[in-house]
Amino acid sequence: MLNTKIAGIGHYVPSRIISNKDLESVMDTTDEWIQERTGIQERRYGIPHKETTTTMAARAAEIAIERAGISKEDIDFIIFATLSPDYFFPGCGVLLQRELKITKTECAALDIRNQCSGFIYGLSVADQFIKTGHYKNILLVGAEMHSMGLDFTTRGRNVTVIFGDGAGAVILQASETNNDGVLSTHIHSDGTYAEELAFINPGCHGGYHLGTEKFGYQNNTYGGIFLTQKMWEEEDIYPNMNGQLVFKTAITKFPEVIQEALQKSNYSVSDIDLLIPHQANLRISQFIQKKLGLSDDKVFNNIQKYGNTTAASIPIALSEAWEQGKVKDGDLVCLAAFGSGFTWGSALIKW
Ligand code: UT7
Repeated sequence: MLNTKIAGIGHYVPSRIISNKDLESVMDTTDEWIQERTGIQERRYGIPHKETTTTMAARAAEIAIERAGISKEDIDFIIFATLSPDYFFPGCGVLLQRELKITKTECAALDIRNQCSGFIYGLSVADQFIKTGHYKNILLVGAEMHSMGLDFTTRGRNVTVIFGDGAGAVILQASETNNDGVLSTHIHSDGTYAEELAFINPGCHGGYHLGTEKFGYQNNTYGGIFLTQKMWEEEDIYPNMNGQLVFKTAITKFPEVIQEALQKSNYSVSDIDLLIPHQANLRISQFIQKKLGLSDDKVFNNIQKYGNTTAASIPIALSEAWEQGKVKDGDLVCLAAFGSGFTWGSALIKW
């Protein structure tokens, strides 16, 4: 039986730092409020019209590829998790293939739209392809350019202050030894609350279409097939979040799905060397740590510097932890995420 191992890891964050004070200058918020409620001190924003989700992903991928000691042409499959793609379609997977100049057409590309748990879902998909021997080298990326889709007025402050840009990537290969690598992945969803953390426009749910009133659609003088004048005028074109519901559900689901992973491999919480929770809110991470009774050195957080980078948050944190020597051979590493959908998941890795 083949196991999946992480053969190389890398991350990229844009150089532009946006502090809480910077946000104070455009909306009614305070550094004190943001730090007290979320732990975030600053985040990174890509350079508009120069950097994109795909270009950031490429920089992270190049580091992971180099560290894995493979060439770009060795990659068989690209899995790209993002909620802020360059285009409505095609997905970022093929754009990344082009950006990396991977020319072989045997390489496949898949986009994953699972928001905060996108990286765990991607790892779960990759794990199946490695375990069956179907692919040898899989590039899994989580990347986001949130800054291009946030509401920078006071109306959007509960969402906007949380999010930042960045990318993280791993190269996944079959492990040559037994009992290491990805021990298990666990993925869940509950669509009941789909609109409670969502970016619903543009989308076909509105039923608007340019110039085809004959078939029952409403005309849209703004020209976009899924955006209407009304949406534009009411600024119903940004993400929305029921923060309290998301927070309450997250602090229940995180510990549950971590325990599920531990039980599957007959481990207990005390066996965890490092927990890397999705960086949603420092208060959520602290709640999980307390609930599980983990010491500070067993939980990795970097949301203070980068904010919530959604699908990128786990690979960025894992990459930083590895660079800082906090992930060593033989360590038991647990990854866990919860977010929009709602979707959530965990993975247990023997490094
Ligand atoms: O990764 C995706 C998953 N997302 C999450 O896990 C996020 C989970 N939720 C949260 O992190 C928190 O709910 C937030 C940080 C988003 C908000 O914190 P909260 O303690 O739940 O605040 P709230 O939404 O209940 O708002 C409390 C007050 C309100 O004012 P009033 O009505 O009490 O006068 C808000 O208008 O804080 C106000 N507020 C702000 N004030 C200053 C909301 N956002 C801001 C802001 N600056 N940025």
